[in-house]
Amino acid sequence: MVRSLAVRLAACPGSFDPVTNGHLDVIVRTAAIFDEVIVAVGVNKTKARMFDTDERCEMIAEVTADLPNVRVERFEGLTTDFCQKFDIGVIVKGLRAVSDFEYELQMAQMNHSLAGVETLFMHSSPQYSFLSSSLVKEVAIWGGDVTHLVPPAVLARLKTRLAR
Ligand code: PNS
Repeated sequence: MVRSLAVRLAACPGSFDPVTNGHLDVIVRTAAIFDEVIVAVGVNKTKARMFDTDERCEMIAEVTADLPNVRVERFEGLTTDFCQKFDIGVIVKGLRAVSDFEYELQMAQMNHSLAGVETLFMHSSPQYSFLSSSLVKEVAIWGGDVTHLVPPAVLARLKTRLAR
């Protein structure tokens, strides 16, 4: 049997506004399977964000600093163009619930039809199945405690942002 020596590279794309413990869980588990993981932070100038692209990338870099095979890149435009630029054949997306599936399946099939890029779905860990960046922001804006939902570095930035 001939064993492939190719580096197995995966992308974890998202907007990560901000990165949550749920995202981090998927990134960590993906990094345990693939040789290299690129967390791809989407830039969408038409969408209002709490954190700009630099801040979102910095937070991901901070919370993945202990994962030597993970790095962060930003991208604007199609995910498939990003994958082709970095020669990435696999996208890994987290799935929290069946409600995520329909949209994610559509994107996966579109990305496959555009560039032959495969998408693998990773189920969220049960303790994060309700978690989203949007809900974290909503709870934090109204003064709720999100300590258990985001990494400490993100919590600090949220507090600073909302103290303004
Ligand atoms: O899960 P998210 O955070 O909403 O994902 C955002 C992101 C950046 C992954 C998604 O919006 C995306 O793929 N944007 C790139 C545009 C694109 O490729 N569109 C066609 C996908 S079928």
